[in-house]
Amino acid sequence: MAKKIEALRGMEDLLPGEIEKWQWVEEKARIFFESRGFKEIRTPLLESTDLFVRSVGESSDIVHKEMFSFQDRGERHITLRPEMTASVARSVIEKGLLSQAKSLRFYYIGPMFRAERPQAGRKRQFHQIGIEMINETGWQADLECVELLAGFLAYVGLAGSKIRMNDLGSVDEQKQTAEKLRQYFEGAKDKLCKDCQWRLEKNVLRIFDCKTESCQSVIDGAPWEKIAPLGESFNQVAHALTARSISYEIRRRLVRGLDYYNGLVFEATASGLGAQDALAGGGRYDRLYPDLGGPTAYCTGFSLGVERLLSALTHQDGKALEAVSNRRVYLAPLDATEGVQDVVRLVALRLRERGIRIETLPGEISLSKHLKRANQNNIRFVLILGGEEFEKKSWMVKDMEQKTQHIVSWDEVVSFLSELIY
Ligand code: HAM
Repeated sequence: MAKKIEALRGMEDLLPGEIEKWQWVEEKARIFFESRGFKEIRTPLLESTDLFVRSVGESSDIVHKEMFSFQDRGERHITLRPEMTASVARSVIEKGLLSQAKSLRFYYIGPMFRAERPQAGRKRQFHQIGIEMINETGWQADLECVELLAGFLAYVGLAGSKIRMNDLGSVDEQKQTAEKLRQYFEGAKDKLCKDCQWRLEKNVLRIFDCKTESCQSVIDGAPWEKIAPLGESFNQVAHALTARSISYEIRRRLVRGLDYYNGLVFEATASGLGAQDALAGGGRYDRLYPDLGGPTAYCTGFSLGVERLLSALTHQDGKALEAVSNRRVYLAPLDATEGVQDVVRLVALRLRERGIRIETLPGEISLSKHLKRANQNNIRFVLILGGEEFEKKSWMVKDMEQKTQHIVSWDEVVSFLSELIY
C-alpha cells in the first residue's frame, strides 16, 4: 500500500465539530471591530523576506530563528508571513492609502507561520485576529487600543484575563535607554548566557525575553526606573484604565518580541494556557512606516491568537463553547406532502436566518428513523411534524438531552428554539 501523507508538524486541520467555534469567534470579531470603524484587510501569505527583516527585526527570535523563508524559482527571497503588522504597513505604503485618508483602522483574521518547536498552544501555523490603528497618536489612541482588546475579550465571554503593560519610551528616548541598559548588562556580561551576550551586541532589549535561569537575577536587577521612568502619556493611560475598572499590571520586563515598538506596549494573558499564556500582544509603533520607506505614521495595534483564545474559553467553560458547535436542529416531518414540505421549508429558512444549522432526511421517514439519525449526529433539539401537529399548526419540540417535549405553534417555534440555543 502507498505510504500515507501526513500534515506537517505544528500545522493542523480544522474539521467540522471544531470549525464552528472558529466561525463563531471570527464572526464576533467582525461584528465587534466593524462596528467600531475598522475595515477588514487581507494581504498575501507570502511577502519578500526583507519586509520582516526590516520591521520585526534581525535580532528578534522570529526573524533570527523562526521564519519559513525560501527562494522561489526566480531566486527571490520570500517568507510566509510570521505576523501581519508589517504586511499591512507594506500595503498601506505601496498603495498610498495615507494620501487618501488622514488615519486608517484595519482589522484582519488569518494564518501566520513561525517555525517554533510545536507544543500545546504553540503551532507553526497559527491564526491571529488583529487590529492596526494607523496614524492615530496621543495617549487616547493607546488607551482605546487596550480598551478594544479588553472589550473584545469581554464580548466573547472570557473572564479573568490579565493585561500587562510597559513603557518603552519615545523613539528618541529609546536610543538613550538602550545605551544605558547596554552599559548595565555589559557590567554583568559574564553572568549572561551565550544568547544574551549575542543580544547585547544586536539589541539589548531582547535580553528581557531570556528564559535561562542564570540570566534572571541580572535581568531583574535592571534599573529601569532610573534609566527610563514611566512617561506622562503612559501614566495617563494607566489612570484612565483604573477609572474604567480595567485591571492591569505594570511589568517593566515586558519588551515584546518584535523590534518595531516604542511607547506603550501590552500583553493579555489568560489562565488555562499553561506555559504559553500570552493570549494577545501589541503596542505603539511610530517608526515602522518611515523604516519601510513610507510617510511618518504614528500607529498602535494588537493581535490575538485564535487557538489560545479558544483554549482559554474551553478552559473557562467547555460546555458553553461546545454549545456553539451545537447550534443545530433536526427536522422530522413524518410525511412528505406538499403542505408539510412548505412548513418545513419555511421553518428551515427562518432558523437558518438565526444562524442555526438544519439537518433532516428527505422523503417519507418514520419517527424512530428520524430520532436515530438525530442521535447519531448528536443533535439535541428535534422538531417533529406529524398529522396531529399539522392539524394544530404546531411542532413538537423534543429535547433529546433533557428528555422533555413541548408543543409550540408554527409562529413561535423559531423564537422558542433561539431562546434555548443561544
Ligand atoms: P505577537 O505577540 O508576536 O504579536 O503575537 C500575538 C499573539 O499571537 C500571541 O499573543 C499569541 O496568542 C499568538 N501566537 C504567536 N505565536 C504563536 C504560535 N507559535 N502559536 C500559537 N499562537 C501564537 C504580533 O504578532 C504583533 N503583530 C502584534 C501587533 C499588532 N502589534 C501591533 N499590532
